Amino acid sequence: MLKNNFNRSDCLIAVGGGIVGDVSAFAASIFKRGLKLINIPTTLLAQVDSSIGGKTGINSKFGKNLIGSFYQPNLVISDIDFLKYLPKREIICGYAEIFKHSIIADRKFFDFLIRNKKKIINLKKPFINKAIYKSCLIKKNIVEKDENEKNLRKKLNLGHTFAHSYEASFKYSGKLNHGEAVLLGINSASEFSKQKNLLSQKEFGLISKHISEIDKSLKVRNYFKIKDAKKLLKYMKNDKKNNSDKINLILINKIGKVSYDNFFHQKEISKFIRSQIYSI
Ligand SMILES: NC(=O)c1ccc[n+]([C@@H]2O[C@H](COP(=O)([O-])OP(=O)(O)OC[C@H]3O[C@@H](n4cnc5c(N)ncnc54)[C@H](O)[C@@H]3O)[C@@H](O)[C@H]2O)c1
Repeated sequence: MLKNNFNRSDCLIAVGGGIVGDVSAFAASIFKRGLKLINIPTTLLAQVDSSIGGKTGINSKFGKNLIGSFYQPNLVISDIDFLKYLPKREIICGYAEIFKHSIIADRKFFDFLIRNKKKIINLKKPFINKAIYKSCLIKKNIVEKDENEKNLRKKLNLGHTFAHSYEASFKYSGKLNHGEAVLLGINSASEFSKQKNLLSQKEFGLISKHISEIDKSLKVRNYFKIKDAKKLLKYMKNDKKNNSDKINLILINKIGKVSYDNFFHQKEISKFIRSQIYSI
């Protein structure tokens, strides 16, 4: 952009998945202290999640997304026609975030997903349109109240502390992709919430059943052995949301309502991780 003499009245247009969007938005945010930005997300994950909310970031050898900024695009254009070229595994990645949004904020939307999961994953209209639109609205409503993630926005990290540790322990290889890790993470957060007597057994069952209907192999014990528990805890501890030795989790009170800033001793989380690996 410097070579081509871009200036602040020029516009950067990002066309691609979440990685293209995040890197372009980061570049736009620092180039001459801010360039106009249009984001055209082409994956389901980018349409329902990364293109909304203004978080930008790049990875470094120290970890994922540790360098970044908050920078809102001037315009986001989501066209579902892009999605027909996406592999099913990438569709599930986006669906994981849609499902997460419903648990955070909207029981009716959760029920809609339970009823129409197959149609959404197969990109049937108008189900896919509604799922994307509702999901964006939920994220937008939260971000508008807390753009810089001081409080409310933390809710959007539901399942992600577990998910990051699952992904990181495979060194972000294809063995477990982000969406699969998020679904595993949501399941872990639900189970932990049930154990804390917050979430009812019935609602835990609904969440867990939905995840196993998407992919019945998505169980922590299918990916990890007891010897991995220490490593998983280490990655959870390193999560950038923690600012003490304790581990900060988003918990589910009921479908549609979650709470943030719940701190737990590492010992308790370690015991929980082990119980998930042992569970039948
Ligand atoms: N900024 C945020 O708030 C936020 C939120 C969630 C995730 N993220 C970030 O988003 C990234 C993941 O995004 P993603 O899931 O879109 O992954 P991605 O950008 O890697 O895209 C996934 C794959 O799909 C391909 N692709 C893109 N569009 C396609 C299309 N229409 N048809 C066929 N293939 C297509 C890409 O080339 C890539 O191989 C991660 O880096 C994550 O950290 C950011």
